[in-house]
Amino acid sequence: MTKIIQADQLEEGAALLQSGALVAFPTETVFGLGAIANQEAAVKSVYTVKGRPSDNPLIVHIADANQIYDYMMDDDGKRHQIIEKLAANFWPGPLTLVVPVKKDIFPAVVTGGMETVGIRLPDQELTRELIRKTGFPIVGPSANISGKPSPTSVDHVLHDFDGVIGGIINAEPTRIGVESTVLDLTDERGLIILRPGYITKSMITEVIPDVPVFLAGSIANDATEAPKAPGMKYIHYSPNQPVVAVSRENMTQFLASLSDQEISFALAATDKTLERFGQMTEVSFKLGNNIDSATQALFAALRFFDDQPNIQQIVVELFPDIEENAAYRNRLIKASSLVVE
Ligand code: TXA
Ligand code: MG
Repeated sequence: MTKIIQADQLEEGAALLQSGALVAFPTETVFGLGAIANQEAAVKSVYTVKGRPSDNPLIVHIADANQIYDYMMDDDGKRHQIIEKLAANFWPGPLTLVVPVKKDIFPAVVTGGMETVGIRLPDQELTRELIRKTGFPIVGPSANISGKPSPTSVDHVLHDFDGVIGGIINAEPTRIGVESTVLDLTDERGLIILRPGYITKSMITEVIPDVPVFLAGSIANDATEAPKAPGMKYIHYSPNQPVVAVSRENMTQFLASLSDQEISFALAATDKTLERFGQMTEVSFKLGNNIDSATQALFAALRFFDDQPNIQQIVVELFPDIEENAAYRNRLIKASSLVVE
């Protein structure tokens, strides 16, 4: 049985974690699957229950910003200044910082054997309190079976792990809906966004104007170099049916072609798009009327049709290619077998 832990029962959550059990926890982005970061066996079981490849390192969640210096290798002070600015502006919040890791603190399973570690201070007081009660940071990949959409509600976590994990901290659906921006602070050329998220390149540049910020993939990489964020190379966010990402401009034509071929489809789209096309299918999912509501609802939309075998394809509205849509587009395109724009 997976115990649903209420806000006033965090002691129980901490005790479960200390006993080596896994406890899912809420954040502002998605739910994480927690284990205490220095308990090697528990961290290993995070990989096992998720079915996660072992070369994909985990994010370490801390309870207070200054804890990053307990785990980061000392350096010249330049990185320190950058971290101070980022933390002051974006922490607690959806930004993970990849920094050189001190030796012999985390077992190699946490970092995938790399010399760096991803650290994040989540904007969820319940979870920060849970970490304080355990007395050590907790690892937390998204609490979904590898390859499935990340969980944005308690129900999503239970769908994948009920009876498999020790507990879950009860909370409302997550506010942002996609995972944190992962920012690499270890490259001499500048700061590198390894995974796009709510915190955009412009937001970072505004705070740190004197250091260049790059998007991974937009700078030349030696072809033999391992992918910087190992997680980005795997299949992601796949529901049971194929997903097609379709821009608003292409909706008329694409849906007509599905209808012509008598392919039954579900439509996840903004209110405006549903008003116009919703009557073409009985099965739809509302993404609200702006990028924030759509991002918040995206993973729920991808999971919504899982148990509806009569649906052959899931059509999801694709937003235009501008910076504030980057995280939404990144996750949706990764989930899609076809992109129509
Ligand atoms: O919002 C989030 O970040 C959520 C919540 C639960 O905090 N967590 C999350 O974890 O998305 P996960 O494991 O699903 O994704 C972590 C990503 C992966 O792409 C991984 O490869 C990358 O971060 N990553 C972790 N440590 C890294 C490191 N040392 N160097 C480069 N990439 C790293
Ligand atoms: Mg994940």
